[in-house]
Amino acid sequence: MSDLENRLIPWFQVKKRDLPWRKNVNDYTIYVSEIMLQQTRVETVIPYFNRFVNTLHSFYELANVDDELLLKLWEGLGYYSRVKNMKKCARVIVDEYDGKFPNNYENALKLPGIGAYTAGAILSRAYQIPLAAIDGNALRVLSRLYEDDSDISKEATKKAYKEKMEKLITQPGLFNEALMELGATICMPKVYLCNKCPLKDICKAYKHNSISNYPVKLAKVKNTPFEYSVLFITDGINYILINKKDGVLKDMVSPILVDRFYNEADIANYVEENLNLNVKNVFHIKDAKHIFSHQTWYMKGFLVLVDDLKNYPHYRYNEIVEKISLAKAYKKIFESIENVPF
Ligand code: ADE
Repeated sequence: MSDLENRLIPWFQVKKRDLPWRKNVNDYTIYVSEIMLQQTRVETVIPYFNRFVNTLHSFYELANVDDELLLKLWEGLGYYSRVKNMKKCARVIVDEYDGKFPNNYENALKLPGIGAYTAGAILSRAYQIPLAAIDGNALRVLSRLYEDDSDISKEATKKAYKEKMEKLITQPGLFNEALMELGATICMPKVYLCNKCPLKDICKAYKHNSISNYPVKLAKVKNTPFEYSVLFITDGINYILINKKDGVLKDMVSPILVDRFYNEADIANYVEENLNLNVKNVFHIKDAKHIFSHQTWYMKGFLVLVDDLKNYPHYRYNEIVEKISLAKAYKKIFESIENVPF
């Protein structure tokens, strides 16, 4: 074992959190956990992971799942492209790899939704293939360990660490998980529990008391604000939900979005002119904000009462709550409809 592994792995084996994807481990549960953990915190993922693997037990079941159930299992986790890719990925795994996650890097990278990090995490954990999985946690720990000024938002920095780690790892799965665990529980962004850190004796930033200077992250992703009026149009029983065809939340059911803030009278005009429906009343029900990775949506939510929904796709309230997967951004508004006296 390398020196780094000698320090990290025994610590991990004693201190690791009791997480559901660390029990009954196989390529499928590892895959599900790594996709869920891509952009979501461990605490949030736990109940979703349990429900998912208890409902869909294998790549076969995932490949054949009904889209409605699949989205329902994911509802609230966000970044929905992940779950859409999961089903596509499972289809390939069933058709081409006999229902087992492929056991080499090149084939893994060809699967939908699998990049260098996720391929490394899965293959190292499932098959002990000597690949590093360099995520934000790993970059933070390593840049402090080596007092490294490289910009961690650059691909070149990730690549350099990936190569450096792959030269030294002999227990890939344990090493990767231990490094992530250290980043998540000891060497955190703003809190560092150096006294408990197994790397304390070799950490340059600890030695020079410079931890708060690392990691260096220069390129900031621009976050663009958007303003929408969000229209839940109803005849008192059913609600119009269409399929969003572009941008963020594309291919998900959606209320009607108007890309500006309107008042009630403007909304009534908009609906009559653009959707050709007869408006009986408009209620301004709730304002909400939702932050996506590169966009922030400011939403003004309206309930629009019409006499007839004509041919627009529509669903009953309970159906939307129980069966349809409404993205969190819209749900914040939809849930307040219950309180509207119409
Ligand atoms: N983040 C990504 N993969 C993880 C794992 N296997 N355990 C804990 N956190 C993680």
